[in-house]
Amino acid sequence: MVLKIGVIGCGGIANGKHMPALAQVEEVAMVAFCDIIEERAVAAKEKYGTEDAKVYTDYQQMLAESQLDVVHVCTPNNAHAPISIAALEADCHVMCEKPMAKTPEEARQMVVAAKRTGKKLTIGYQNRFRKDSLYLHEVCQEGALGDIYFGKAHAIRRRAVPTWGVFLDEEAQGGGPLIDIGTHALDLTLWMMNNYQPKFVVGKTYRELAETKNAANAWGPWDPEKFTVEDSAFGFVTMENGATIFLESSWALNTLDVKEAKTSLCGTKAGADMNDGLRINGEDHSLLYEKQVELETGGVDFYDGAGDDPSLIEAKSWISAILNDTEPVVKPEEALVVTEILAAIYESSKTNQPVYLNK
Ligand SMILES: NC(=O)c1ccc[n+]([C@@H]2O[C@H](COP(=O)([O-])OP(=O)(O)OC[C@H]3O[C@@H](n4cnc5c(N)ncnc54)[C@H](O)[C@@H]3O)[C@@H](O)[C@H]2O)c1
Repeated sequence: MVLKIGVIGCGGIANGKHMPALAQVEEVAMVAFCDIIEERAVAAKEKYGTEDAKVYTDYQQMLAESQLDVVHVCTPNNAHAPISIAALEADCHVMCEKPMAKTPEEARQMVVAAKRTGKKLTIGYQNRFRKDSLYLHEVCQEGALGDIYFGKAHAIRRRAVPTWGVFLDEEAQGGGPLIDIGTHALDLTLWMMNNYQPKFVVGKTYRELAETKNAANAWGPWDPEKFTVEDSAFGFVTMENGATIFLESSWALNTLDVKEAKTSLCGTKAGADMNDGLRINGEDHSLLYEKQVELETGGVDFYDGAGDDPSLIEAKSWISAILNDTEPVVKPEEALVVTEILAAIYESSKTNQPVYLNK
């Protein structure tokens, strides 16, 4: 069976992840492309589409006409919920880019729409499919770290403010580095801890470097006038079972301690971090140990390549969940909790109060 896929939003992440990965998955055909900037949809069709693939500038028209099985939503954050819900209601399975939505309310509506329609919904947290993440997840799930009672979610850039698209626009994105890259680090941390029950959150956001003119930046200086989101944000989450998580996120920060899409975990039996490769630490026979996990399998080249590109594993795992009617690895209910915690950090910063998340 070949699944008919439509891509909505043919910009950076569609070209950098979704379309090249889907092009390597046998069981799919990309038959429809939509972007409000038509040339982008045309270029995507030419590079990745079937011969008779269609181009749209209006996603509703695409959903009404194209008889799709699957839709990938790769638009800015404010369009994630309305487009995902419309696609679910048009009888499509949906992969929506991260963050799930701008607000928890929108994310909740997405979960409800998936339940109501019986279609699958997943979120593009491809960092779960990295080799180190998959290995560490197995280690955590079999209990080798014991009870994980403290986690750190790292999303720290020194000067890498995304200057393309609408990343700096509060209205379109709902926030800056916290919702953009903090979301990946928090997702990884919660997934490793297998703990989705936050109790209360405190946090603070900053705009201390956003006004800098001619700033040193990985993608060239940003325009301070357009920079309406935070430049860094920090949060502390207390879970129902007493475990705690510290989340650090920035696009621009005066620090040398740069790490992104990483987690550090402290458990009763052992700890783990991703700060210098993947390391496990603990105590054995009254001495401390540190184990460096070798992520390359020495000396063997598999005939079809190592096949460990997280984007490709993400796409294959998603398509296989649809074909075999299994749950996707990234469950929408999990991404909803990430969204709730991020929103609580923003709220706590505004009110200078802890925010309680009542289940
Ligand atoms: N998974 C990751 O690591 C990762 C990395 C980068 C971006 N993203 C996410 O992907 C999303 C898009 O980011 P990007 O970097 O590709 O941005 P982008 O600006 O490069 O691309 C977004 C595209 O969506 C189009 N678009 C906007 N509104 C639309 C609508 N209503 N209908 C159809 N097309 C529309 C724009 O014209 C643009 O071409 C964001 O939510 C971002 O958080 C995820």
